[in-house]
Amino acid sequence: MFSKETYVSRRAELRQLVKNGIIILFGNNESPANCPANGYYPFRQDSSFLYYFGQQRDGLVGVIDIDENRETLIGDDIDIDDIVWFGSVDSVHDMAMQVGVANTAPMKQLKAICDNALRSHRKIHFLPPYRSDIKIQIFDLLGIHPNQQKAAASLDLIHAVVKMRSTKTEEEIVELEHAATIGYRMHTTAMRITRPGLTEKYVSGQVDGVAHSFGSMVSFPTIFTQHGEIMHGIPSMAELEDGRLVLCDCGGENMNHYCSDNTRTFPINGKFTQRQLDIYKVVEEAHDAALGIAKPGVKYVDVHFAACRIIFDRMKELGLAKGDTDAALAAGAHAIFLPHGLGHMMGMDVHDMEALDQIYVGFDEETRPNLEQFGTNSLRMGRRLQEGFVVTDEPGIYFIPALIDEWHAKKHCADFLNFDKLEAYKDFGGIRIEDDLLITKDGCRFIGEERIPYHPKDVEASWQQAGNKSSYQSSIYNYLLRGIRCRRDPRKRQQKSL
Ligand code: GLY
Ligand code: MN
Repeated sequence: MFSKETYVSRRAELRQLVKNGIIILFGNNESPANCPANGYYPFRQDSSFLYYFGQQRDGLVGVIDIDENRETLIGDDIDIDDIVWFGSVDSVHDMAMQVGVANTAPMKQLKAICDNALRSHRKIHFLPPYRSDIKIQIFDLLGIHPNQQKAAASLDLIHAVVKMRSTKTEEEIVELEHAATIGYRMHTTAMRITRPGLTEKYVSGQVDGVAHSFGSMVSFPTIFTQHGEIMHGIPSMAELEDGRLVLCDCGGENMNHYCSDNTRTFPINGKFTQRQLDIYKVVEEAHDAALGIAKPGVKYVDVHFAACRIIFDRMKELGLAKGDTDAALAAGAHAIFLPHGLGHMMGMDVHDMEALDQIYVGFDEETRPNLEQFGTNSLRMGRRLQEGFVVTDEPGIYFIPALIDEWHAKKHCADFLNFDKLEAYKDFGGIRIEDDLLITKDGCRFIGEERIPYHPKDVEASWQQAGNKSSYQSSIYNYLLRGIRCRRDPRKRQQKSL
């Protein structure tokens, strides 16, 4: 948690931006996973609530009455049963004091506050809800059906929150650097322990353990897969195979809920083949290019297309693509290799503020994406960069068998792609390299004091430095593996049905 002054001044700025009415910011509630008193999903506070009210407890709502200049933290104090089972926590009054809020009220009073505001036709601002329990809460309080709530959410509030949360302050950058340190440990753990014969799940479980031991949790479900061509491929019980690449996309969330998001793709046996290296170097070049282009005033969609251009030109050199690069990019031919955007905002949410709607977070009138075109319709960030923005730089090249087949059958972008040559890459998988860029006064830099190895020679060297992997074989390590191996690769089935 930051100092009281941080939250006081954030709410003052929010009041100025929204101008009038009542702002209601809902904190999240506990979510039982399988039965009410057992198996909770890990509690995660709403990021906008955290940003303005700082408190991590469930069952809280923040109310900012702009017209009456009154701020209230709403919530019920825990009772003796909760204390017996879970221990004591600060009272709602104490929590309000910690973040400079003058008033508190029990949850039942929220209905009266809303009824009064509705009676006097005052504007009630709320953000688009993304959890069902909050949708029910809004339905009870304001009578707006859950299906209508996204449309009824306050655009003034959305724009104000996006404006404020997009630019990270120095104290937030310290938090992001800390999250990057956790991410570094997660990734280097994956690189250190990976070897043929382990399962994807085993390595990803160890990686997740690092996040849990140093921070709050993972910033999103860890992607650790030999099927790098599946964008969000979850780890399976498949064994890691000698000669293949594995893609590791993961991040840590620190105790103050700031995130990291990095991807590395590396050879399971520690040595790239020439074919792997040919593609890897293209992704590496596209990844590094962003460093020289991204700066205040530059549109991120232009950085994206600079990466696409590099990828398409190099794929032409490798014989997989052909034709005029400008025409190919206009037709969207590059998206067969890179079907997603170069990056997204990152902060307290790994896809920062995505719940507020990507169109408001990543775009403006000048940079609205072409929602009709495959690939471009997946962009999450296009607008002009500002000092203090944090965006991911995550180019990739993927060979998606089902997509290659579909485009081939439809002759889609046939003037720009050599489908016969692409056939031979249908067993390749995919490569992504991702780091988090902080936009500085006149350029940008990667977040994280130590770079997770990604230049091929560093990746291979880190494998060597991990020591004699065969020493694991006689250790408890192998004992632990007994019983968790499974030869079937569920991805293979999944791929057929794509
Ligand atoms: N790192 C996961 C994603 O950006 O979607
Ligand atoms: Mn990402």
